Amino acid sequence: MPQAPVPLTSRPEWRALASLQQALKNTPMRALFEQDPDRARRYFTEAAGLSLDYSKNRMTDDVLAGLMALARQCGVPERTEAMFRGDRINVTEGRPALHTALRNPGGDAIMVDGIDIIPEVEQTLARMASFTDDILSGQRTGFTGKAFTDVVSIGIGGSFLGPKLISEALQPYQNGQLSGYFVANIDGSDISEVLRQVNPETTLFLVQSKSFRTQETLENSQIARDWFLENGGSEATIAKHFVAVTANPKVAETFGIAGENIFPMWDWVGGRYSLWSAIGLPIALLVGMTNFRALLTGAHAMDQHFRHTPLEKNLPVIMAMLGIWYSNFWGAETHAILPYDHYLESLPAHLQQLDMESNGKCVTQDGQPVSYPTGPIIWGGVGANGQHAYHQLLHQGTRLIPADFIIPLQSHNPVGEHHAILFANCLSQSRALMAGKTEEEARQELARDGLSQNDIATLAPHKVIPGNKPSNTLLMDKLTPETLGALIALYEHRTFVQGVIWDVDSFDQWGVELGKQMGKGILDQIMGDAAPKATSDSSTEQLIRLFRSKRP
Ligand code: F6P
Repeated sequence: MPQAPVPLTSRPEWRALASLQQALKNTPMRALFEQDPDRARRYFTEAAGLSLDYSKNRMTDDVLAGLMALARQCGVPERTEAMFRGDRINVTEGRPALHTALRNPGGDAIMVDGIDIIPEVEQTLARMASFTDDILSGQRTGFTGKAFTDVVSIGIGGSFLGPKLISEALQPYQNGQLSGYFVANIDGSDISEVLRQVNPETTLFLVQSKSFRTQETLENSQIARDWFLENGGSEATIAKHFVAVTANPKVAETFGIAGENIFPMWDWVGGRYSLWSAIGLPIALLVGMTNFRALLTGAHAMDQHFRHTPLEKNLPVIMAMLGIWYSNFWGAETHAILPYDHYLESLPAHLQQLDMESNGKCVTQDGQPVSYPTGPIIWGGVGANGQHAYHQLLHQGTRLIPADFIIPLQSHNPVGEHHAILFANCLSQSRALMAGKTEEEARQELARDGLSQNDIATLAPHKVIPGNKPSNTLLMDKLTPETLGALIALYEHRTFVQGVIWDVDSFDQWGVELGKQMGKGILDQIMGDAAPKATSDSSTEQLIRLFRSKRP
């Protein structure tokens, strides 16, 4: 009989890490820096145009070795190969997760169901290129013969967050020919505000939905279609203005989108990993196909690094294992993403979906309840704005919140001393989080300010900053399509490695289904005139009645 696997938390590697945490729990990082003047150099590594300083972590060589031993024991190298090879690592849906193939055109064959997918990837990129050319050159126009001026992308989740993030982040690379809009929410205000700004004669709509079954996207697309027809368009000219990206072309055609206007998606690409596919069409239209390909090149460079670099020097693995260290051994419940680059304002939202939809799971791959915390809450925002909002809690709150600072060395907009000041802010935050301020230092500071002994005693406890708060600093020379591609791929692999350790299926998302299922029944009741059925609870029933009482 095969032996049952040893539970994760009973393995020697796990226990060793638990002991290391006990041994280290009263050692401030300040002391670790004092003991080892070489610490910053030793905990610094580079790949694919990104550099990672991970010296401001509560860790020693022993901890790192222990984390890497756990990664090996959990099969990270083998599972990584399985992902790149196209094994069906999404076990609950029986699918491979091959987003890496999308950024490897010209690469070796990868077989899915007996078909090499690489030629399909290349053909799709070629179609995207010629479509983009046709739009930007004015060869393809709107129904009155005018060149397109606006592109409205309609999609939600992965069919929205990635393209939006990249389009914003690459704003300095936008060609200026087209203005881009992203509509996601099933809140009439979202689509209405966009439609108010665009002209039906010169607006291209991209309906972005892998499944072509997503309520928000279909309803918004219907509103866009009606608006187009009411404002000069016709059934015959819909084909000029509506394009879809989907793995479900039949339903897209039923919706009224011409077959030649449908770009493919595939089951082997997860929604939250889809920006590299034709779901990236808005990106290509806004920044050009050359920059879209450069984005893929940067991501591919990170893929190569991840696949072929020993764990100890592997950026995604180091970041993933440090995340495991804090989530599972120090009780951290959240992880902050703090980009110090205004173009990366939407990065936390994208990484939130990537990570929380991937690793927000409570059973292992074979369906057993986990006995340890899995994916943390991912949150964050752009620096320096956050310093005047939630950083107070990072510095003096009661929770341990590991953070990633992300900042380019050069700005696209070198006005005044802004970039030096921004960089100084970023460093002062990571340093303050690490070093904090002792009571003695607080007292000395207050004494220097001339306060009385009484006032010093009253104020000093409030001025103490505990410090010892861990962070990584990720750098790049400049935010370019290549470094951005590498950055997003880095986080994708970080998420993957953590999923391997926790033994969850990082590529399914069954949890979002229940709300969708219940939504249907509730909508019927909200729209109907019959007395609301006693559903399962009186709260929902009462709220339905309230809505209906104000229904126009
Ligand atoms: O929220 C669930 C989800 O399935 C995401 O994974 C996905 O990115 C999003 O909905 C949109 O799905 P689709 O592209 O099929 O419309």
